[in-house]
Amino acid sequence: MISSVKHTPFSASTDFLPKKRFLTPTLKFSPLPIIQNSIFNNKFSSEKPLHISSTQNLTFSPKEQQKELKTQCNAYEADRSRPLDINIEVLDEQARFEAAQRLKIGIYFATWWALNVVFNIYNKKVLNAFPYPWLTSTLSLACGSLMMLVSWATRIAEAPKTDLEFWKSLFPVAVAHTIGHVAATVSMSKVAVSFTHIIKSGEPAFSVLVSRFLFGETLPMPVYMSLLPIIGGCALAAVTELNFNMIGFMGAMISNLAFVFRNIFSKKGMKGKSVGGMNYYACLSMMSLLILTPFAIAVEGPQMWAAGWQKAIAQIGPNFVWWVAAQSIFYHLYNQVSYMSLDQISPLTFSIGNTMKRISVIVSSIIIFHTPVQPVNALGAAIAILGTFIYSQAKQ
Ligand code: 3PG
Repeated sequence: MISSVKHTPFSASTDFLPKKRFLTPTLKFSPLPIIQNSIFNNKFSSEKPLHISSTQNLTFSPKEQQKELKTQCNAYEADRSRPLDINIEVLDEQARFEAAQRLKIGIYFATWWALNVVFNIYNKKVLNAFPYPWLTSTLSLACGSLMMLVSWATRIAEAPKTDLEFWKSLFPVAVAHTIGHVAATVSMSKVAVSFTHIIKSGEPAFSVLVSRFLFGETLPMPVYMSLLPIIGGCALAAVTELNFNMIGFMGAMISNLAFVFRNIFSKKGMKGKSVGGMNYYACLSMMSLLILTPFAIAVEGPQMWAAGWQKAIAQIGPNFVWWVAAQSIFYHLYNQVSYMSLDQISPLTFSIGNTMKRISVIVSSIIIFHTPVQPVNALGAAIAILGTFIYSQAKQ
């Protein structure tokens, strides 16, 4: 490997130099071996040379043997075998980048699920004491909008640069988001959180139906087959649900349909736009708030809210205000993180993440609210969730 004896003392001397200097020519910034080798040589010529007249009397202790190893390595580099090094390093860089990317997505997912579990718990606590889902839905959007306006004003987050086109393309997304959000909240005000989420695990079925009948997209047969356990599992869970309620069931179904549209439009709207996931969701919240407020006033109204609020405060105490704040803040945070994830991954990976999120919500809410579950009901939920995994595999 050693190309010439002359390199040996030369390289041994280099061990006294800061190691980084030797690492510099490892072609991080230039893929051209010739350029790198010349950089390498120039660097050495600028150092004070170490003159050794003979290598014969040199004995190497283990530490010195290490130096010898480096020497060999350096001499090897001097050989024209550089392209091999480059490939290895490019692959190394790529592997490192991919690992970092996976870690980032993993952190996003874990944060998203944790925030979602907290939101669902506080949301249900609030709805149990104050059954006005139109107002609580409005408050979540208002809180998120306010948080983002403050972040922009204080420059914690950079405000997005938007134009009329952006807001126009956001409108259908905001309509779908508003419908999906209010429908899910109405559902949770009527049935157990776990039941709403079991029905919401059927979202892929809606996604396939919308793709097939609205966009004329034909999917492979295994994808259609995977809908059988999803639909069958949801149906089994629904008919065996102890506290079944038609409004609760329909709310979850409407939410599924609306969110399929929201996800399709969002991904399209975010593509190639300079507005990132976090700000995109902030704008979405603001537009949804404007859409929802008049409907919330029309459906429930300030009189009902005032009476309900007093009753809730009398029943729960001042802590009730914190519950409302928590459900609103966590609603915004989990959605913000989920949009930040959507920004980085395909809608398919997103829907797998969403299904796994539902498992954590279903399990935690059953434990926290002591929801009675029959074995056959749990079996239906398990089949539906398994179906969503089969669906994602089939789609891949
Ligand atoms: C909402 O209120 O928007 C829903 O609880 C959201 O449901 P999802 O994000 O779990 O689909």
